[in-house]
Amino acid sequence: MDILLFGPPGAGKGTQAKLLTEELSVPQISTGDMMRAERKSGSDLGQRFDSFMSQGLLVPDELVLELIEQRLKKADAQNGAIFDGFPRTTAQAEALDGILTRLGRSIERVVSMEVSLDEILTRVTGRRVCLDCGQTYHVRYSPPPADGTCVSCSGSNVVQRKDDTEEVAQKRYDEYKAWTEPVLAHYQPKGLVATVDGVGALEEVHQRISSALGR
Ligand code: AP5
Ligand code: MG
Repeated sequence: MDILLFGPPGAGKGTQAKLLTEELSVPQISTGDMMRAERKSGSDLGQRFDSFMSQGLLVPDELVLELIEQRLKKADAQNGAIFDGFPRTTAQAEALDGILTRLGRSIERVVSMEVSLDEILTRVTGRRVCLDCGQTYHVRYSPPPADGTCVSCSGSNVVQRKDDTEEVAQKRYDEYKAWTEPVLAHYQPKGLVATVDGVGALEEVHQRISSALGR
């Protein structure tokens, strides 16, 4: 089963993708998480990603598509995936169609999560993430333990993302409006898009997404 979780920065894509992977037994593929891992490794490619990410700009399509091609070759992704934060441009969506077609697969559902800009800024500026396992927290809505230990992997790398300032979050939102929101028009004629209210308790939003997936 191949599913897209779609929505602006801070909509809750990563949070909800984590809940879905357990239920659907397919991996979460977050290009943002993969780029942060590459950056953390200190590689040249990671530094190239950083030059765009730190400013809230989209990373060029060819770099993103190379990452996706490699990721989809891994054993755990042979039966489907939950795409989180990808595709972000129409060119990426068209390329993904081509890759999946070659694998005899196709996108089954696009779940578009709707959240207002005010709520996005509150969420993003209060977010904390575990650099080791990707677990997401929010200082107010789901605070990490006071000693900084991750509840998911027991690591001690729970930090604030570099791009989670109000200024960079606003830039990411502008990029979303300019490049990513139009991607919905690629999937709408195929009848694949389900719109879900992304505001509410985590479990409530999860139920809405499950219903949109017919579960
Ligand atoms: P990426 O990491 O994908 O960032 P994003 O799309 O900006 O999305 P976020 O991760 O910020 O938000 P999210 O929707 O996952 O929300 P989360 O669950 O964490 O990309 C980062 C950068 O990488 C981009 O700017 C770009 O430079 C580059 N990039 C990545 N992919 C690319 C691509 N395909 N092409 C080109 N460039 C690419 O939740 C947010 C916060 O809200 C958390 O604190 C969470 O605890 C809280 N929260 C979640 N749900 C709720 C709820 N229901 N109620 C209250 N709080 C909630
Ligand atoms: Mg995310």
